[in-house]
Amino acid sequence: MNMSQAATIHFEAAAVAPSHDATPRSAHLRETQSTMNKAVDVAVRFEGVSKQYGGTTVLHSTDLSVRRGEFVTLLGPSGSGKSTILNIISGSTPATTGRVFLDGEDVTLKPPRDRGLGMVFQNYALMPHMTVFENVAFPLKIRNWKADAIRTQVMATLEKVGLSGFAQRKPKELSGGQQQRVSIARCLVYSPSIILMDEPLGALDKKLRDQLQGEIKSLHRDIGTTLIYVTHDQEEALNLSDKVCLMNHGRIVQLGTPEELYFDPANRFVADFVGESNILAGTLVEAGVMQTKAGTRLRVNSRNARPGAAVELLVRPENVRLLNAGETASEDNVIEATVAELSFVGGRTRVAAMAGEERLLATRISARNDALVQPGQQVRLAFGQANALVLN
Ligand SMILES: Nc1ncnc2c1ncn2[C@@H]1O[C@H](COP(=O)(O)OP(=O)(O)OP(=O)(O)O)[C@@H](O)[C@H]1O
Ligand SMILES: [Mg+2]
Repeated sequence: MNMSQAATIHFEAAAVAPSHDATPRSAHLRETQSTMNKAVDVAVRFEGVSKQYGGTTVLHSTDLSVRRGEFVTLLGPSGSGKSTILNIISGSTPATTGRVFLDGEDVTLKPPRDRGLGMVFQNYALMPHMTVFENVAFPLKIRNWKADAIRTQVMATLEKVGLSGFAQRKPKELSGGQQQRVSIARCLVYSPSIILMDEPLGALDKKLRDQLQGEIKSLHRDIGTTLIYVTHDQEEALNLSDKVCLMNHGRIVQLGTPEELYFDPANRFVADFVGESNILAGTLVEAGVMQTKAGTRLRVNSRNARPGAAVELLVRPENVRLLNAGETASEDNVIEATVAELSFVGGRTRVAAMAGEERLLATRISARNDALVQPGQQVRLAFGQANALVLN
Protein backbone atom coordinates (compact mmCIF):
# COMPACT_ATOMS: atom_id res chain seq x y z
CA MET A 1 0.00 0.00 0.00
CA ASN A 2 1.42 3.39 -0.92
CA MET A 3 0.99 6.62 1.01
CA SER A 4 -1.95 7.98 -0.97
CA GLN A 5 -3.89 4.72 -0.55
CA ALA A 6 -3.28 4.82 3.20
CA ALA A 7 -4.43 8.43 3.36
CA THR A 8 -7.68 7.76 1.53
CA ILE A 9 -8.59 4.64 3.44
CA HIS A 10 -8.08 6.58 6.63
CA PHE A 11 -10.35 9.33 5.30
CA GLU A 12 -13.10 6.89 4.32
CA ALA A 13 -12.91 5.14 7.67
CA ALA A 14 -13.21 8.50 9.40
CA ALA A 15 -16.28 9.39 7.37
CA VAL A 16 -18.28 6.37 8.61
CA ALA A 17 -16.82 5.97 12.11
CA PRO A 18 -19.24 6.47 15.01
CA SER A 19 -18.91 9.89 16.55
CA HIS A 20 -17.28 10.01 19.98
CA ASP A 21 -16.58 13.69 19.95
CA ALA A 22 -18.75 16.64 20.91
CA THR A 23 -20.18 17.04 17.38
CA PRO A 24 -23.95 16.51 17.53
CA ARG A 25 -24.80 13.17 15.97
CA SER A 26 -27.28 14.60 13.44
CA ALA A 27 -24.64 17.01 12.09
CA HIS A 28 -22.17 14.17 11.83
CA LEU A 29 -24.69 12.01 9.97
CA ARG A 30 -25.53 14.84 7.62
CA GLU A 31 -21.85 15.23 6.80
CA THR A 32 -21.44 11.50 6.22
CA GLN A 33 -24.51 11.48 4.01
CA SER A 34 -23.25 14.35 1.90
CA THR A 35 -19.82 12.71 1.51
CA MET A 36 -21.55 9.54 0.28
CA ASN A 37 -23.85 11.42 -2.08
CA LYS A 38 -20.87 13.17 -3.56
CA ALA A 39 -19.11 9.84 -4.10
CA VAL A 40 -22.17 8.40 -5.86
CA ASP A 41 -22.43 11.45 -8.12
CA VAL A 42 -18.92 10.93 -9.41
CA ALA A 43 -18.60 8.45 -12.27
CA VAL A 44 -14.84 8.61 -12.76
CA ARG A 45 -12.24 9.77 -10.28
CA PHE A 46 -8.45 9.92 -10.47
CA GLU A 47 -6.45 10.28 -7.31
CA GLY A 48 -2.80 11.13 -7.94
CA VAL A 49 -2.72 9.11 -11.14
CA SER A 50 0.49 9.31 -13.14
CA LYS A 51 2.10 7.38 -15.98
CA GLN A 52 5.74 6.84 -16.77
CA TYR A 53 7.41 4.93 -19.56
CA GLY A 54 11.00 4.13 -18.67
CA GLY A 55 12.21 7.37 -17.13
CA THR A 56 9.75 9.57 -19.02
CA THR A 57 6.63 10.93 -17.34
CA VAL A 58 3.84 11.21 -19.91
CA LEU A 59 1.14 11.95 -17.31
CA HIS A 60 2.04 13.93 -14.20
CA SER A 61 0.19 13.23 -10.94
CA THR A 62 -3.43 13.98 -11.81
CA ASP A 63 -6.63 14.38 -9.79
CA LEU A 64 -9.81 14.36 -11.82
CA SER A 65 -13.53 13.98 -11.18
CA VAL A 66 -16.17 13.39 -13.81
CA ARG A 67 -19.75 13.63 -12.63
CA ARG A 68 -22.32 11.05 -13.60
CA GLY A 69 -24.02 11.93 -16.89
CA GLU A 70 -21.42 14.52 -17.79
CA PHE A 71 -19.88 14.88 -21.27
CA VAL A 72 -16.22 15.64 -20.72
CA THR A 73 -13.77 16.11 -23.56
CA LEU A 74 -10.02 15.72 -23.26
CA LEU A 75 -8.52 18.26 -25.63
CA GLY A 76 -4.90 19.02 -26.37
CA PRO A 77 -2.04 18.77 -28.82
CA SER A 78 -0.66 15.47 -30.08
CA GLY A 79 1.27 13.64 -27.36
CA SER A 80 -0.24 15.66 -24.49
CA GLY A 81 -1.60 12.56 -22.72
CA LYS A 82 -5.25 12.41 -23.78
CA SER A 83 -5.30 8.77 -24.85
CA THR A 84 -3.17 7.88 -21.85
CA ILE A 85 -5.92 9.15 -19.52
CA LEU A 86 -8.60 7.28 -21.48
CA ASN A 87 -6.58 4.07 -21.50
CA ILE A 88 -5.97 4.30 -17.76
CA ILE A 89 -9.74 4.66 -17.23
CA SER A 90 -10.41 1.65 -19.47
CA GLY A 91 -7.68 -0.37 -17.77
CA SER A 92 -5.76 -1.11 -20.96
CA THR A 93 -2.86 0.98 -19.62
CA PRO A 94 -1.94 0.50 -15.95
CA ALA A 95 -1.23 3.69 -13.98
CA THR A 96 2.28 4.01 -12.54
CA THR A 97 0.97 5.69 -9.36
CA GLY A 98 -2.39 6.62 -7.90
CA ARG A 99 -5.85 5.14 -7.88
CA VAL A 100 -8.78 5.03 -10.30
CA PHE A 101 -12.40 4.93 -9.12
CA LEU A 102 -15.45 4.11 -11.23
CA ASP A 103 -18.82 4.83 -9.62
CA GLY A 104 -17.04 5.08 -6.29
CA GLU A 105 -15.33 1.70 -6.56
CA ASP A 106 -11.55 1.41 -6.64
CA VAL A 107 -10.82 -0.36 -9.95
CA THR A 108 -7.10 0.36 -10.08
CA LEU A 109 -6.27 -3.33 -10.20
CA LYS A 110 -9.32 -4.51 -12.15
CA PRO A 111 -8.76 -5.82 -15.69
CA PRO A 112 -10.50 -3.94 -18.55
CA ARG A 113 -13.19 -6.59 -19.18
CA ASP A 114 -14.44 -6.27 -15.58
CA ARG A 115 -14.83 -2.49 -15.70
CA GLY A 116 -18.04 -2.57 -17.78
CA LEU A 117 -17.10 0.41 -19.94
CA GLY A 118 -18.21 1.11 -23.50
CA MET A 119 -15.50 2.10 -25.94
CA VAL A 120 -15.44 3.64 -29.41
CA PHE A 121 -12.13 4.24 -31.14
CA GLN A 122 -10.93 5.89 -34.30
CA ASN A 123 -10.44 2.67 -36.26
CA TYR A 124 -13.90 1.27 -35.98
CA ALA A 125 -12.59 -2.24 -35.25
CA LEU A 126 -15.71 -3.89 -36.66
CA MET A 127 -15.58 -7.58 -37.34
CA PRO A 128 -15.37 -7.73 -41.16
CA HIS A 129 -16.92 -11.18 -41.66
CA MET A 130 -19.98 -10.30 -39.57
CA THR A 131 -23.00 -8.30 -40.72
CA VAL A 132 -23.92 -5.00 -39.12
CA PHE A 133 -26.56 -6.84 -37.10
CA GLU A 134 -24.07 -9.44 -35.87
CA ASN A 135 -21.51 -6.80 -34.99
CA VAL A 136 -23.99 -4.87 -32.87
CA ALA A 137 -25.41 -8.10 -31.36
CA PHE A 138 -21.97 -9.28 -30.28
CA PRO A 139 -21.78 -7.54 -26.86
CA LEU A 140 -25.24 -8.94 -25.99
CA LYS A 141 -24.31 -12.47 -27.09
CA ILE A 142 -21.30 -12.58 -24.83
CA ARG A 143 -23.57 -11.38 -22.02
CA ASN A 144 -25.84 -14.37 -22.72
CA TRP A 145 -28.89 -12.41 -23.84
CA LYS A 146 -31.74 -14.48 -25.40
CA ALA A 147 -32.11 -14.34 -29.22
CA ASP A 148 -35.47 -12.51 -29.12
CA ALA A 149 -34.22 -9.84 -26.75
CA ILE A 150 -31.07 -9.43 -28.83
CA ARG A 151 -33.10 -8.87 -32.02
CA THR A 152 -35.33 -6.23 -30.38
CA GLN A 153 -32.44 -4.41 -28.73
CA VAL A 154 -30.15 -4.43 -31.79
CA MET A 155 -32.88 -3.14 -34.11
CA ALA A 156 -33.83 -0.39 -31.65
CA THR A 157 -30.19 0.68 -31.39
CA LEU A 158 -29.65 0.64 -35.17
CA GLU A 159 -32.73 2.82 -35.46
CA LYS A 160 -31.19 5.29 -32.98
CA VAL A 161 -28.08 5.72 -35.12
CA GLY A 162 -30.06 5.84 -38.37
CA LEU A 163 -28.99 2.46 -39.74
CA SER A 164 -32.19 0.41 -39.62
CA GLY A 165 -31.94 -0.50 -43.30
CA PHE A 166 -28.34 -1.68 -43.09
CA ALA A 167 -28.59 -4.63 -40.70
CA GLN A 168 -27.64 -7.27 -43.26
CA ARG A 169 -24.69 -5.47 -44.82
CA LYS A 170 -21.04 -6.24 -44.16
CA PRO A 171 -18.82 -3.40 -42.86
CA LYS A 172 -16.95 -3.12 -46.19
CA GLU A 173 -20.28 -2.29 -47.88
CA LEU A 174 -20.64 0.85 -45.74
CA SER A 175 -19.16 4.35 -45.87
CA GLY A 176 -16.72 5.48 -43.19
CA GLY A 177 -19.43 7.42 -41.38
CA GLN A 178 -21.82 4.48 -41.45
CA GLN A 179 -19.12 2.16 -40.12
CA GLN A 180 -18.46 4.60 -37.32
CA ARG A 181 -22.16 4.64 -36.48
CA VAL A 182 -22.11 0.84 -36.29
CA SER A 183 -19.27 1.02 -33.79
CA ILE A 184 -21.23 3.60 -31.78
CA ALA A 185 -24.30 1.33 -31.91
CA ARG A 186 -22.22 -1.65 -30.77
CA CYS A 187 -21.20 0.42 -27.77
CA LEU A 188 -24.66 1.81 -26.96
CA VAL A 189 -26.46 -1.51 -27.36
CA TYR A 190 -25.73 -2.78 -23.84
CA SER A 191 -26.19 0.65 -22.17
CA PRO A 192 -22.83 0.98 -20.43
CA SER A 193 -22.99 3.65 -17.75
CA ILE A 194 -19.66 5.11 -18.90
CA ILE A 195 -18.58 5.45 -22.52
CA LEU A 196 -15.07 6.31 -23.69
CA MET A 197 -14.47 7.64 -27.20
CA ASP A 198 -10.99 8.27 -28.59
CA GLU A 199 -11.06 10.51 -31.69
CA PRO A 200 -14.07 8.60 -33.05
CA LEU A 201 -14.58 11.09 -35.88
CA GLY A 202 -10.93 11.78 -36.67
CA ALA A 203 -10.89 9.91 -39.98
CA LEU A 204 -14.04 11.48 -41.42
CA ASP A 205 -14.55 14.51 -43.65
CA LYS A 206 -15.83 17.75 -42.16
CA LYS A 207 -19.45 17.43 -43.22
CA LEU A 208 -19.80 13.90 -41.88
CA ARG A 209 -17.97 14.89 -38.71
CA ASP A 210 -20.46 17.70 -38.10
CA GLN A 211 -23.37 15.34 -38.68
CA LEU A 212 -22.03 12.65 -36.35
CA GLN A 213 -21.17 15.26 -33.71
CA GLY A 214 -24.85 16.15 -33.70
CA GLU A 215 -25.78 12.49 -33.38
CA ILE A 216 -23.36 11.82 -30.55
CA LYS A 217 -24.61 14.90 -28.74
CA SER A 218 -28.26 13.90 -28.98
CA LEU A 219 -27.48 10.27 -28.09
CA HIS A 220 -25.77 11.54 -24.97
CA ARG A 221 -28.79 13.68 -24.18
CA ASP A 222 -31.19 10.77 -24.76
CA ILE A 223 -29.43 8.08 -22.77
CA GLY A 224 -27.79 10.32 -20.16
CA THR A 225 -24.63 8.26 -19.99
CA THR A 226 -21.29 9.57 -18.77
CA LEU A 227 -19.19 10.24 -21.83
CA ILE A 228 -15.45 10.86 -21.92
CA TYR A 229 -14.33 11.93 -25.34
CA VAL A 230 -10.91 12.64 -26.84
CA THR A 231 -10.20 15.03 -29.67
CA HIS A 232 -7.54 17.48 -30.74
CA ASP A 233 -10.17 19.51 -32.62
CA GLN A 234 -11.11 22.47 -30.43
CA GLU A 235 -14.34 23.27 -32.27
CA GLU A 236 -15.51 19.71 -31.78
CA ALA A 237 -14.65 19.92 -28.08
CA LEU A 238 -16.50 23.21 -27.58
CA ASN A 239 -19.53 22.02 -29.50
CA LEU A 240 -19.98 18.67 -27.76
CA SER A 241 -18.97 19.02 -24.17
CA ASP A 242 -20.38 19.99 -20.80
CA LYS A 243 -16.75 20.37 -19.73
CA VAL A 244 -13.48 20.51 -21.58
CA CYS A 245 -10.26 19.28 -20.01
CA LEU A 246 -7.36 20.94 -21.80
CA MET A 247 -4.07 19.04 -21.61
CA ASN A 248 -0.49 19.95 -22.40
CA HIS A 249 2.72 17.98 -21.79
CA GLY A 250 1.01 15.41 -19.58
CA ARG A 251 -0.83 17.90 -17.37
CA ILE A 252 -4.36 19.26 -17.13
CA VAL A 253 -4.00 22.97 -17.87
CA GLN A 254 -7.66 23.88 -17.38
CA LEU A 255 -10.89 22.00 -16.77
CA GLY A 256 -14.07 23.99 -17.25
CA THR A 257 -17.12 24.64 -19.37
CA PRO A 258 -16.46 25.60 -23.01
CA GLU A 259 -17.45 29.18 -22.12
CA GLU A 260 -14.99 29.31 -19.21
CA LEU A 261 -12.11 28.15 -21.39
CA TYR A 262 -12.98 30.61 -24.11
CA PHE A 263 -13.81 33.69 -22.06
CA ASP A 264 -11.66 33.02 -18.98
CA PRO A 265 -8.61 31.11 -20.14
CA ALA A 266 -6.29 30.20 -17.26
CA ASN A 267 -3.21 31.26 -19.20
CA ARG A 268 -1.76 31.99 -22.61
CA PHE A 269 -1.66 28.35 -23.67
CA VAL A 270 -5.43 28.02 -23.18
CA ALA A 271 -6.11 31.35 -24.92
CA ASP A 272 -4.02 30.26 -27.90
CA PHE A 273 -5.37 26.74 -28.13
CA VAL A 274 -9.05 27.54 -27.77
CA GLY A 275 -10.25 29.91 -30.46
CA GLU A 276 -8.24 32.59 -32.22
CA SER A 277 -6.54 35.22 -30.15
CA ASN A 278 -4.54 38.41 -30.18
CA ILE A 279 -1.92 38.50 -27.46
CA LEU A 280 -0.28 41.84 -26.70
CA ALA A 281 2.73 42.12 -24.38
CA GLY A 282 3.23 45.11 -22.12
CA THR A 283 3.35 46.45 -18.57
CA LEU A 284 0.50 47.12 -16.19
CA VAL A 285 0.77 50.82 -15.30
CA GLU A 286 -2.02 50.83 -12.75
CA ALA A 287 -5.15 48.76 -12.15
CA GLY A 288 -7.06 48.74 -15.44
CA VAL A 289 -4.35 50.43 -17.50
CA MET A 290 -1.68 48.74 -19.55
CA GLN A 291 1.08 50.13 -21.73
CA THR A 292 2.07 48.07 -24.77
CA LYS A 293 5.68 47.61 -25.86
CA ALA A 294 4.99 50.15 -28.61
CA GLY A 295 3.93 52.66 -25.94
CA THR A 296 0.16 52.63 -26.49
CA ARG A 297 -1.94 52.94 -23.33
CA LEU A 298 -4.90 50.60 -23.17
CA ARG A 299 -7.83 50.24 -20.80
CA VAL A 300 -7.93 46.60 -19.75
CA ASN A 301 -9.54 44.15 -17.38
CA SER A 302 -6.40 43.60 -15.28
CA ARG A 303 -7.95 41.12 -12.80
CA ASN A 304 -5.37 40.27 -10.11
CA ALA A 305 -2.28 41.57 -11.90
CA ARG A 306 -0.15 43.99 -9.90
CA PRO A 307 0.87 47.42 -11.17
CA GLY A 308 4.40 47.28 -12.55
CA ALA A 309 4.03 43.65 -13.66
CA ALA A 310 4.88 42.50 -17.18
CA VAL A 311 1.58 41.20 -18.55
CA GLU A 312 0.02 39.68 -21.62
CA LEU A 313 -3.31 40.87 -22.91
CA LEU A 314 -5.88 38.71 -24.68
CA VAL A 315 -8.29 40.26 -27.18
CA ARG A 316 -10.40 37.96 -29.33
CA PRO A 317 -10.45 38.89 -33.04
CA GLU A 318 -14.25 39.10 -33.14
CA ASN A 319 -14.05 41.86 -30.51
CA VAL A 320 -11.72 43.97 -32.63
CA ARG A 321 -13.50 46.40 -34.95
CA LEU A 322 -12.08 48.21 -37.93
CA LEU A 323 -13.06 51.86 -37.69
CA ASN A 324 -14.29 53.66 -40.78
CA ALA A 325 -12.28 56.64 -41.97
CA GLY A 326 -13.04 59.64 -39.78
CA GLU A 327 -15.18 57.63 -37.38
CA THR A 328 -14.98 58.46 -33.68
CA ALA A 329 -14.59 55.25 -31.71
CA SER A 330 -17.08 54.42 -29.00
CA GLU A 331 -14.70 51.74 -27.69
CA ASP A 332 -12.15 52.42 -24.93
CA ASN A 333 -9.12 51.47 -27.00
CA VAL A 334 -7.87 52.38 -30.46
CA ILE A 335 -4.68 51.04 -32.03
CA GLU A 336 -3.21 52.30 -35.30
CA ALA A 337 -2.04 49.58 -37.64
CA THR A 338 -1.17 48.73 -41.23
CA VAL A 339 -3.20 46.05 -43.00
CA ALA A 340 -1.00 43.08 -43.86
CA GLU A 341 -3.41 40.51 -45.22
CA LEU A 342 -7.09 39.86 -45.89
CA SER A 343 -8.65 36.44 -46.00
CA PHE A 344 -12.16 35.49 -46.90
CA VAL A 345 -13.07 32.25 -45.09
CA GLY A 346 -16.74 31.95 -45.99
CA GLY A 347 -18.92 33.36 -43.26
CA ARG A 348 -16.13 35.47 -41.81
CA THR A 349 -13.48 37.75 -43.22
CA ARG A 350 -10.19 38.08 -41.37
CA VAL A 351 -8.03 41.15 -41.44
CA ALA A 352 -4.45 40.85 -40.21
CA ALA A 353 -2.74 44.13 -39.43
CA MET A 354 0.64 45.12 -38.00
CA ALA A 355 0.87 47.56 -35.10
CA GLY A 356 4.62 48.00 -34.87
CA GLU A 357 5.95 44.50 -34.17
CA GLU A 358 2.58 43.16 -33.06
CA ARG A 359 0.31 41.32 -35.46
CA LEU A 360 -3.37 41.87 -34.75
CA LEU A 361 -6.29 39.96 -36.13
CA ALA A 362 -9.80 41.31 -36.58
CA THR A 363 -12.67 39.25 -37.90
CA ARG A 364 -16.02 40.33 -39.12
CA ILE A 365 -19.05 38.78 -40.73
CA SER A 366 -18.55 38.60 -44.49
CA ALA A 367 -20.76 40.62 -46.78
CA ARG A 368 -21.06 40.64 -50.56
CA ASN A 369 -19.29 43.61 -52.16
CA ASP A 370 -17.75 44.53 -48.79
CA ALA A 371 -15.67 47.65 -49.43
CA LEU A 372 -12.79 46.19 -47.48
CA VAL A 373 -9.50 47.90 -46.77
CA GLN A 374 -6.51 46.84 -48.86
CA PRO A 375 -3.11 45.53 -47.78
CA GLY A 376 -0.74 48.39 -46.99
CA GLN A 377 -3.54 50.70 -45.90
CA GLN A 378 -3.44 52.49 -42.51
CA VAL A 379 -6.36 51.54 -40.27
CA ARG A 380 -7.56 52.01 -36.73
CA LEU A 381 -8.59 48.99 -34.67
CA ALA A 382 -10.91 49.44 -31.73
CA PHE A 383 -11.89 47.26 -28.78
CA GLY A 384 -13.53 47.73 -25.40
CA GLN A 385 -12.01 47.36 -21.95
CA ALA A 386 -14.35 44.50 -21.10
CA ASN A 387 -12.95 42.50 -24.02
CA ALA A 388 -9.31 43.12 -23.07
CA LEU A 389 -8.35 40.45 -20.56
CA VAL A 390 -5.00 40.38 -18.80
CA LEU A 391 -3.77 36.77 -18.68
CA ASN A 392 -2.25 35.10 -15.64
N1 LIG B 1 3.74 2.46 -24.95
C1 LIG B 1 4.38 3.64 -24.89
N2 LIG B 1 5.70 3.69 -24.63
C2 LIG B 1 6.36 4.87 -24.54
N3 LIG B 1 5.78 6.08 -24.67
C3 LIG B 1 4.47 6.10 -24.93
C4 LIG B 1 3.68 4.89 -25.04
N4 LIG B 1 2.41 5.22 -25.30
C5 LIG B 1 2.38 6.57 -25.34
N5 LIG B 1 3.60 7.10 -25.12
C6 LIG B 1 3.95 8.53 -25.07
O1 LIG B 1 3.09 9.18 -24.15
C7 LIG B 1 2.81 10.51 -24.56
C8 LIG B 1 1.30 10.73 -24.50
O2 LIG B 1 0.69 9.89 -25.45
P1 LIG B 1 -0.87 9.90 -25.73
O3 LIG B 1 -1.15 8.77 -26.64
O4 LIG B 1 -1.59 9.95 -24.43
O5 LIG B 1 -1.02 11.29 -26.48
P2 LIG B 1 -2.35 11.93 -27.12
O6 LIG B 1 -2.59 13.21 -26.39
O7 LIG B 1 -3.43 10.95 -27.16
O8 LIG B 1 -1.83 12.31 -28.59
P3 LIG B 1 -2.56 12.13 -30.05
O9 LIG B 1 -3.44 13.34 -30.21
O10 LIG B 1 -1.41 12.17 -31.00
O11 LIG B 1 -3.31 10.85 -30.07
C9 LIG B 1 3.39 10.65 -25.97
O12 LIG B 1 4.58 11.39 -25.88
C10 LIG B 1 3.67 9.23 -26.38
O13 LIG B 1 4.78 9.16 -27.24
MG1 LIG C 1 -4.39 9.88 -28.71
